[in-house]
Amino acid sequence: MESLRVALGERAYPIHIGSGLLDRAELYRPHLAGGSAAIVTNQVVAPLYLSRVRQALREVRVTEIIVPDGERAKSWPTLERVFDALLEARCGRDSLLIALGGGVVGDLAGFAAAVYQRGMPFLQVPTTLLAQVDSSVGGKTAINHARGKNMIGAFHQPLAVISDVATLDTLPDRELRAGLAEVIKHGLALDAAFVTWLESSMEKLLSRDPAALSHAVKRCCELKSDIVAADERESGVRALLNFGHTFGHAIEAATGYGSWLHGEAIAAGMVMASELSRNLGSIDEKDVARVRRLIERAGLPVAGPAVAPQELMALMAVDKKAVQGRLRFVLLEAIGRAALRGGIDDVAVRGAIVAAAQ
Ligand SMILES: NC(=O)c1ccc[n+]([C@@H]2O[C@H](COP(=O)([O-])OP(=O)(O)OC[C@H]3O[C@@H](n4cnc5c(N)ncnc54)[C@H](O)[C@@H]3O)[C@@H](O)[C@H]2O)c1
Ligand SMILES: [Zn+2]
Repeated sequence: MESLRVALGERAYPIHIGSGLLDRAELYRPHLAGGSAAIVTNQVVAPLYLSRVRQALREVRVTEIIVPDGERAKSWPTLERVFDALLEARCGRDSLLIALGGGVVGDLAGFAAAVYQRGMPFLQVPTTLLAQVDSSVGGKTAINHARGKNMIGAFHQPLAVISDVATLDTLPDRELRAGLAEVIKHGLALDAAFVTWLESSMEKLLSRDPAALSHAVKRCCELKSDIVAADERESGVRALLNFGHTFGHAIEAATGYGSWLHGEAIAAGMVMASELSRNLGSIDEKDVARVRRLIERAGLPVAGPAVAPQELMALMAVDKKAVQGRLRFVLLEAIGRAALRGGIDDVAVRGAIVAAAQ
């Protein structure tokens, strides 16, 4: 097992990464002073892993809260069901909430923990690659609103993250690959040496080699936690983690959310952002080819959906209103070095969308 620390002063916390951590009681014990815990998980994850986490918590009173699978669980009705169950079990502010599942369960349970009785402690026990490398670290929690994803939420840091890479054995292939898109993102945006490692380790990752997965999760968590420690509330450098996301969110919106997984949209979005970086002269053709090849080898799409460039651009402009009327892009200055750029003209953006499709 390896452990890192997210350096956030009095809210600092450890991230434990390894194979077979789920039932190690000593990882949970330091957080169980209140004598009770509630596990939030979903209908897919519960039959696979709930009993093992319960076993690790056998010294305290445990409540199980099982929510439906899928993005629709990030909703008010599901959140209310979580509160109902916590109140019924007489959980207090000193009870521990444990989020066992992918990013959906983590975001929902994290938000519940942020507001239940003005805030209760919680643990992230992520079971998807996306959650282990991205959503479980950094304290963003949210549910969705009919008008937009993650519109209702809070920053609430966990007490610890327990990432058991052995849980990825049961993850569907498509979800594993979607998680790899976020892994690739960390490399392209922040760490050239990690990109080189990914290029030589892609087969191992796809075959779920535990040592390779542990290394990838660890490196992404190191990169993300450094950024979070420097900019917890995303007023600056944390935005670099959105590489590929301006295009990717537009792809998700254009295809009606769900037909493309988030990671798949981000994969094609990273190709578009790389093409845009090349249009603006900050990287060259060889770099773009390298990005495409890595994404392809992860079994991810390099071209966007069959949607007119204007439509994607209109959706990005809607996104733009959310950031005070300015459309900013995270672009590559080199492989492994992203930067935030504004004032980019539409012709270059359109050209990048078209180039990505070729
Ligand atoms: N808070 C953040 O910083 C942040 C960052 C990125 C994404 N997110 C959010 O994360 C969510 C996506 O997360 P996700 O990709 O993990 O999706 P998810 O939670 O829906 O999980 C994907 C699927 O895998 C299943 N699953 C989970 N673990 C499994 C396992 N070990 N074996 C078999 N099946 C398993 C789930 O039930 C689900 O069907 C989105 O809602 C997104 O907004 C949040
Ligand atoms: Zn993402």
